[in-house]
Amino acid sequence: MNFYCMTLFPEMIDNAFSTSITGRAMNNGYLNLHTVNIRDFANNTHNSVDDYPFGGGAGMLMQAEPIYRCYEHIIEEIGKETRVILTTPVGKVFNQAMAAEFAQEENLIFLCGHYEGIDERVIEKIVTDRVSIGDYVLTGGELPALVMMDSISRLVPCVLSNSVSSTYESHSNGLLEYPQYTRPREWNGMEVPEVLLSGHHKNIAAWQKEESLKRTKKYRPDLYKKWEEEQNKED
Ligand code: ADE
Repeated sequence: MNFYCMTLFPEMIDNAFSTSITGRAMNNGYLNLHTVNIRDFANNTHNSVDDYPFGGGAGMLMQAEPIYRCYEHIIEEIGKETRVILTTPVGKVFNQAMAAEFAQEENLIFLCGHYEGIDERVIEKIVTDRVSIGDYVLTGGELPALVMMDSISRLVPCVLSNSVSSTYESHSNGLLEYPQYTRPREWNGMEVPEVLLSGHHKNIAAWQKEESLKRTKKYRPDLYKKWEEEQNKED
């Protein structure tokens, strides 16, 4: 999987992505990250990439041309049409199903917005997916791009050392994950649930399912309702 990021702050993406599991996957050749600085494609002597919005309003907008040139540079490198994800609060809210869909791509380009926004014309010209990471506003699109790249990366084969661990986790089956425990058996007067020490796989699986359902109902009643509807359809 090759990620390309169009950004004004490449070091922010490079630093975070080269840490921990995604960093290891890059070192092992399972992921590649190419951050490209939009400012390198500025078309004026001041290297500025923003300007005032027509019609007035607060703040500055990123101009179309530097972004378009940056995009063309990347497309030339990839050599074929590629999905371009704009990180924006004005978009579809990211979820696990979208992560799974994006993980099927060989190449993905992220466009990270900054300032107050981007000239709409370049968005219309190059962006295939407008994606938000939630109903709140951030100062820029770098963190959302990192969030998405991280969750997509975990679904790329060989990135996680144990492929089972992305099969049974929260959201992969529409439910939140059950609680887990490690040694010691007793900590601060709190015991590990007896069934987990029993070695009885069927009972353990039943307990985990029950806990998953309880937690989903408590913390995410919206997901629980959806899960129930799915079950009724299958019956
Ligand atoms: N840029 C600013 N806020 C954002 C959000 N919530 N999701 C994606 N991109 C953003």
